[in-house]
Amino acid sequence: MPCKVSHLLVVFLLFSIQFSISQSITLKFDGQPFKFFQNIEQVHKGQTVAGLIEVKKFLIRFGYYPNPDHVNHLNNNFDDHLESALKAYQNFYHLKVTGSLDSDTIKRMMIPRCGVPDLTNFTSLNQSRNSNIGLLYAYPNGKPKWHKFNLSYSFLPNVPNTPDVKAAFAEAFVSWKIVSQFNFHRAAAGEAANLVIGFYTGAHGDGFPFDGPGKILAHSFYPPDGRSHYDATENWSTHPAKDQMDYESVALHEIGHLLGLAHSQDPNAVMYPTIAPGAIKRDLALDDVKGIQALYPL
Ligand SMILES: *[C@@H]1O[C@H](CO)[C@@H](O)[C@H](O)[C@H]1NC(C)=O
Ligand SMILES: *[C@@H]1O[C@H](CO)[C@@H](O)[C@H](O)[C@H]1NC(C)=O
Ligand SMILES: *[C@@H]1O[C@H](CO)[C@@H](O)[C@H](O)[C@H]1NC(C)=O
Ligand SMILES: *[C@@H]1O[C@H](CO)[C@@H](O)[C@H](O)[C@H]1NC(C)=O
Ligand SMILES: [Zn+2]
Ligand SMILES: [Zn+2]
Repeated sequence: MPCKVSHLLVVFLLFSIQFSISQSITLKFDGQPFKFFQNIEQVHKGQTVAGLIEVKKFLIRFGYYPNPDHVNHLNNNFDDHLESALKAYQNFYHLKVTGSLDSDTIKRMMIPRCGVPDLTNFTSLNQSRNSNIGLLYAYPNGKPKWHKFNLSYSFLPNVPNTPDVKAAFAEAFVSWKIVSQFNFHRAAAGEAANLVIGFYTGAHGDGFPFDGPGKILAHSFYPPDGRSHYDATENWSTHPAKDQMDYESVALHEIGHLLGLAHSQDPNAVMYPTIAPGAIKRDLALDDVKGIQALYPL
């Protein structure tokens, strides 16, 4: 019996340590404090709290405000529209749909992610998401796609010029090739390519500025655009330590957008919007494979 009690005590102590670690993570991440996440935990409708403007900008940025009129006057009031946007966000991420800024929601918002919005057009949301039970892949409004399968890609001169980085991108193309009819080949020097990979810092001319380390990692454009942009200020690696981002995992996700896939709600899918530092996700999940094969039947 005493033995059992001490076991319980150890479990309790471990739990307490874990709990205090996760509490400190809510305020600070990767050395970059997220100012707008300070003092906003447990905030709910009816309150006015500094920092809510940043939460609103985040939710607008990723597609959670269906009507632009609702955000014409950005302020720190927790109004009905913010509550609806938070519920849509919590619903997408399979969190408890509270409509308030609880700690699970805040933690989720702090994980580095792709800059492509999760929802592109609320009115068409239900039609564009697939309804097969258990599969959560999605397409953007209008389902844009390629009408040929032989696609060339190129690297802009600002891509880190090391063979291992280019090999990581090449591997990501191979992963999509083996589950689809696509053939990818690197364009000859100076030749125009269908898919163009570039690394940028801050604003870079397309209206979607990068934001420094963490937060937004990359974004890409749907067919037939072909541009795939990566934030040059991230700590990228081909063998990521726990504070680094994996080239191949993020490239695999971005190529999914280039081919016409939107964000999946399946946490195992490569097309899930977020990826933690140090995480490796170099294999397509069933959800990704079904998604590409439904768009381009074999
Ligand atoms: C989408 O479907 C859900 C439940 O299936 C429903 O509650 C919601 O109103 C629908 N949204 C639209 C925009 O049709
Ligand atoms: C949203 O979807 C609706 C219905 O499919 C369409 O009429 C509307 O133009 C779309 N809006 C945008 C901004 O794509
Ligand atoms: C794909 O395109 C490349 C370069 O344009 C060409 O060399 C190759 O033969 C093409 N492959 C097919 C199967 O069309
Ligand atoms: C990038 O990550 C490595 C490995 O953890 C670390 O040693 C280095 O300090 C990081 N660089 C920056 C700029 O954060
Ligand atoms: Zn994405
Ligand atoms: Zn860009």
